[in-house]
Amino acid sequence: MSRALANRTKCLSESKTLVITATANRMRAEGVDVINLSVGEPDFPTPEPIKAAGQAAIENNFTRYTAAQGIIELREAIVAKLKNDNQLTYDPSQIVVTSGAKHALTGSLLAAVNPGDEVLYPVPGWLSYPEMIRIAEGEPIPYHCKGENNFRPDLDELRRLITPKTKAIIVNNPSNPTGAAYTPDEIREIGAVLAEHDIWVISDEIYEKLRYDGKSHLSFAQVDGLFEKTVVINGVSKAFAMTGWRIGYLAAAPELVKAVTKLQSQMTSSCCSISQKAASEAMRNGEDANMRTMIEAFSRRRDMVVDALNQIDGVHCPTPDGAFYAFPDVSAFLGKTVNGHTIANDIDLCQWLLEVKHMALVPGAAFGAEGFIRISFAASDKDLQTGLQRLKDGLEELRG
Ligand SMILES: Cc1ncc(COP(=O)(O)O)c(C=O)c1O
Repeated sequence: MSRALANRTKCLSESKTLVITATANRMRAEGVDVINLSVGEPDFPTPEPIKAAGQAAIENNFTRYTAAQGIIELREAIVAKLKNDNQLTYDPSQIVVTSGAKHALTGSLLAAVNPGDEVLYPVPGWLSYPEMIRIAEGEPIPYHCKGENNFRPDLDELRRLITPKTKAIIVNNPSNPTGAAYTPDEIREIGAVLAEHDIWVISDEIYEKLRYDGKSHLSFAQVDGLFEKTVVINGVSKAFAMTGWRIGYLAAAPELVKAVTKLQSQMTSSCCSISQKAASEAMRNGEDANMRTMIEAFSRRRDMVVDALNQIDGVHCPTPDGAFYAFPDVSAFLGKTVNGHTIANDIDLCQWLLEVKHMALVPGAAFGAEGFIRISFAASDKDLQTGLQRLKDGLEELRG
């Protein structure tokens, strides 16, 4: 016998965005004036009525374990949301409330995937997807959403990649990190390819509410032939500025819901009772002035960031349709040396920008997209202006 650790976690990497945030926070604690544009959460506080619902839960001693699947009040509010926003009809028994959308994704993969099953995921795409697939002992298979294709998947590639070994595909709309949001027609086109196969469609819609220019959202579950196959993943983190409350959910076919509920009952018992009450309030009444103010601010900052980036010679930044990230191509600045620092790739670039220009960004490589950087505009106007100036200065220094 030895105390060596199991192989299960050895192939996993730590979340790179959380590592960058931790480094930026450490530098700040040491007194360095770091501008952090790497964060993936709204810089707005949770709205007062939602906080009050959490406080009332504590006052009313709603502080015990709940049903593993989530409190009925919240599941009913989720069913109403799916009906009103997405014209999807679920029974509350088809909903599982989870500790964030992240947990809904991991739970779905653990429930659906056998060791060695292939799971397709988008590249560029959220860095947690391949790691979650590995947790479920599946084989992560990337499909590409290239910049030259407007960050849309290539349908021929998708057709080629779906084989008898494929168990599931993860789709993410709007996308982290590209901010691309598919139009309803594009969803129908991609969905038609998926509907030809008996695979799970794990549809991460966490940024659904953060869309700009009044564009509408279609869920993959709304596509003909996909309702039964789709696991809709969503939550309150981004839409209601509630990242720390840790409430997400999934809606799916009864067999998958039962499997995820069993897992959850053994792994966490239930989500935080207080957060579930706050999330119920958010789901019922949260689409208010607070949300509109936040979305307007993101929309305005998006324009400011994209304009400023595209004014830097050599930077190309498409306008994101949703989420709160700009994803410019900075490949023109790679392969340069400045003051003894060689900037071979986007990881070196972000490291140099952090150390020398004191600004934190995420390298595209973290999302499988070398030559890009991700800039979060979930930051104050002042931080964005200072950060963009530092980035411009840095890139101009590199250009020489
Ligand atoms: C694409 C995507 N899905 C899911 C999540 C996780 O959301 P939650 O905080 O609800 O776990 C994130 C968070 O960054 C994300 O970017």
